[in-house]
Amino acid sequence: MKIFLDTANVAHIREAARWGVLDGVTTNPTLVAREKRPFHEAVREICGIVDGPVSAETVSLEAGAIVAEGRLLAKIHDRVVVKVPVMKEGLAATRALAAEGIKVNMTLVFSPTQVLLAAKAGAAYISPFVGRLDDAGHQGLEMIEQSLEILRNYDFAAEIIVASVRSTLHIAQAATLGAHVATVPFAVLEQAIRHPLTDVGIEKFLADARTIPPATA
Ligand code: E4P
Repeated sequence: MKIFLDTANVAHIREAARWGVLDGVTTNPTLVAREKRPFHEAVREICGIVDGPVSAETVSLEAGAIVAEGRLLAKIHDRVVVKVPVMKEGLAATRALAAEGIKVNMTLVFSPTQVLLAAKAGAAYISPFVGRLDDAGHQGLEMIEQSLEILRNYDFAAEIIVASVRSTLHIAQAATLGAHVATVPFAVLEQAIRHPLTDVGIEKFLADARTIPPATA
């Protein structure tokens, strides 16, 4: 499973890239606004750090305007994937962008039928939001299972990005289900590396290493 970082924070992206496990980045207007810097400038810098797809979201509501916005975003770097919300205009724009060879990540996906329609429109990535589904009293991970089955049933090439990840459990469950990608907040990815028994084990090995007699000449 590929791991994307769900952030527009370049320090966090640099750090996760250093760990050798980063396959891409997803952003959204909320994450970009948090960084208090111009959108295109942030996307350009992120593309220079990460060796993989970087999702940048459109905010227009009409198909023609979404396509125009998407074209501009795609011009920033060939790693840019245009993120488009699933809605009538978004589907039409996805079809048009895909026809131009511009990859789309269809976002704000909350139902299996939205997955099917996004795939039919030609989205390269589809992002069901598991955390927000859990928040609303649903089983977010069930959506991932259904989404993967829909893609498999009809041999769609789209990849499922497990989005709105809130915990390391979400990452583990996504990987168990065989999701293509999980996009993860920095703090959750940091947490996923750690285990108390690893910390205890390292401490013990270091203490024991200090008792090993030094080599004699
Ligand atoms: C997906 O690409 C979104 O940016 C993201 O996962 C949304 O997560 P949230 O529900 O934590 O805002």
